[in-house]
Amino acid sequence: MSVSVLSPSRLLGDVSRILQLTSLLILLLLLIKVAQFYLHRQWLLKVLQEFPCPPSHWLFGHNKEYSQDQELQRIRKWVEIFPSACPYWLWGSKARVQLYDPDYIKVVLGRSDPKSYGSYRFLAPWIGHGLLLLNGQTWFQHRRMLTPAFHYDILKPYVEFMADSVRVMLDKWEELIGQDSPLEIFQHVSLMTLDTIMKCAFSHQGSIQLDRDSQSYIQAVTDLNNLFYFRVRNAFYQNDTIYSLTTAGRWSHRACQLAHQHTDRVIQQRKALLQEQGELEKVRKKRHLDFLDILLLAKMENGNSLSDKDLRAEVDTFMFEGHDTTASGISWVLYALATHSKHQQRCREEIQGLLGDGASITWHHLDKMPYTTMCIKEALRLYPPVPGIGRELSTPITFPDGRSLPKGISIILSIYGLHHNPKVWPNPEVFDPSRFAPGSAQHSHAFLPFSGGARNCIGKQFAMNELKVAVALTLLRFELLPDPTRIPIPTPRIVLKSENGIHLHLRRLPNPFLEVKVRNEIHWAKTSSGQDQTPPEGLRESPTPWLFSSRAAFFAFLGTVPSFLFKANNISKSLSLCLHISFPFIRTHVVTSSSVI
Ligand code: HEM
Repeated sequence: MSVSVLSPSRLLGDVSRILQLTSLLILLLLLIKVAQFYLHRQWLLKVLQEFPCPPSHWLFGHNKEYSQDQELQRIRKWVEIFPSACPYWLWGSKARVQLYDPDYIKVVLGRSDPKSYGSYRFLAPWIGHGLLLLNGQTWFQHRRMLTPAFHYDILKPYVEFMADSVRVMLDKWEELIGQDSPLEIFQHVSLMTLDTIMKCAFSHQGSIQLDRDSQSYIQAVTDLNNLFYFRVRNAFYQNDTIYSLTTAGRWSHRACQLAHQHTDRVIQQRKALLQEQGELEKVRKKRHLDFLDILLLAKMENGNSLSDKDLRAEVDTFMFEGHDTTASGISWVLYALATHSKHQQRCREEIQGLLGDGASITWHHLDKMPYTTMCIKEALRLYPPVPGIGRELSTPITFPDGRSLPKGISIILSIYGLHHNPKVWPNPEVFDPSRFAPGSAQHSHAFLPFSGGARNCIGKQFAMNELKVAVALTLLRFELLPDPTRIPIPTPRIVLKSENGIHLHLRRLPNPFLEVKVRNEIHWAKTSSGQDQTPPEGLRESPTPWLFSSRAAFFAFLGTVPSFLFKANNISKSLSLCLHISFPFIRTHVVTSSSVI
C-alpha cells in the first residue's frame, strides 16, 4: 500500500525539515552577524588606538557609563582630558570620533566628505534630500540655485517682517505676565521664528502665531528632534523595517505626516497664488526672487530640474532649519542675558541709544549694535544651537599632530565641545562677551555656530539678523530675570534644547523715550493750565506730541501717572480709556494721533 502524499506523518516530517533548515539559516545569519560585529570592532579598535578614550563596554559602548541626559557634561569632561579628539562608542561595533580642536576641525571643513550616512539618513523621511542632506554634484547645484535667496537685497526688507513677528510675540507676553509668574519662552519663540520664516521664505501673509496648525507643526518638530536623537543611539532602531514596527517608529511616522501636512499646505497656497492672472508675471519681474519662488519657477520653467519630491524636500528642510535653530539661538541668548543683568542693561542702553522707542528697526540699525552683537555671539558660544555635525571620511585624513584616521570612519565635529574647550576659550563656562570685542584674537575655527567651509549655514546672515531684531525689541520692552526654581538643563538634540524649558520672569519696562516726552508734556500741560490749548512750538512739530500732550493733560488732571498706561502696546487701550473720561479737546487730539502709533 503506498503512503499518501498528504499523510500526516509525511507532512510532519516536511514541516520539521523546513523548521530545521530555517533554524540553521537563522543560526548561520547570526554567526555571520557576530563575525561581522567582531571583525568590525577589531578593525575599529586598531584604527582608533591613537585616540585614547575612557574604557567602554564591549556591547553597550559608553552608554553604560554615561546616561543620555549627561551627554553635554561628558563632552565637557572629555574635552579637558583627551586632547583634540576622542572616540565615543555608541555600542560594541559603532564608534564616532568627536573632534573639538580648531586645527582638527579646520582640516575636516576644508575637505568635501559627505554627511555621516549612519545618522543623517534618519532625517530623510522627514526633511527629504534637501540642501542639508544632499551630497556631491546635486548638493552643489541646489546650493547654487538657492544662494540668491539669501542675497542682502532679499534679506533687507525681511527685517521688517522679523520685527512684526517679534512684536506679536511680545504683545502676547504682555498679556501673559500679569500674575508675575515666570513664562516658558521656548514655545513662544519657536512660533515666532516659524512665523518669520513663513513670511520671509514662503511669502506667507498674516501671522501664524495663534494658529493651531502651526502649534501642531512645532510639536511634531519637537517630537522628531527627540525621536531622531534616540534612534541614532539605539542599535535595535537602525534597521528601517524593524524601526517602523516599534512604538517610536510609528510615532515618528505620524510626526512626519503632521510636518508634511504643514509644508504641503504652504506649497499649495503659493502655487495657487501663482496660477492667478498676472501673479506669475509679477514674480518673474522681481529683481530678486524669494526662496519659494526660486523653487517654484525652477520647477515650472524647467520641469526636469526639480521634481515634486525635490521641491518638497527643500521646503521641509528650510521650514525646519529656518525656525528651530533660530528659536534655540534666541531663547538661549535671552536666558544668558537674564542671568547676566549688567550685560543685559548695557545692551539695553545701546539699543535705546540706537532705536529710541523701537518703533522702527531697519537693516541699517543691525550693524550698529556692537555690544549686543558681542553678547549674542557669546551666548551662541555657550549654547550653540547646533551642538554637533557629522561627516563620514571619504578618504583617509591626517591631522596636524600627525595622527590619522582611515576612510569610512564617522566623525562628529562637536561645536559644543569646541566652544567649551578650555584650551581655546579660557574659563569656558563664564559668560564673557569681551571675548568677541573688536580686535580680540581668535583662531579662525574657534567659533563655529554656523559651521564653516563650503557647507556652512546658508541662512547665517538671516539668522543673525533675526537674533538681533528679537533681542533688541525684547530688551526695549522687558527686563529679563531667571527663574531660580527652574534652571534650564541644556540638552543636545538636532538643535540645542532645554530639558525643562526656558523659564524667565519678565518685567515690563517703562519706555524712557515716552517718559521724557511725557515729562515735558506734563510740564506744558501744568504751566498752560489749559487756557491756551495750542501746544508750544516744540510739541507741535510732529503729530506724536499731540498724543503726548493729550496724555499729559489727562495725567496732569489726575495728578498721577499710572505706570501701566505706559505699556507701549497698551497705549491704544489707554487712549480709548482717556477718550471716555477726558475732555473733548483731548479726544480730538488723541484720535488723530493714535494712528501714528
Ligand atoms: C541660529 C541659527 C542657525 C544656526 C546656529 C545654524 C547652524 C547651521 C549649521 C551648524 C549648519 C551645518 C550643518 C551640517 O553641516 O550638517 C547649517 C546648515 C544649514 N542651515 Fe543653518 N543655522 C541657523 C539658521 C538657519 C536658517 C535661518 C536657515 C534658513 C533660512 C538655515 C538653513 C540651513 C541649511 C539649508 C543648511 C544646509 C546647508 C548646506 O549643507 O549647504 N539655517 N546651519
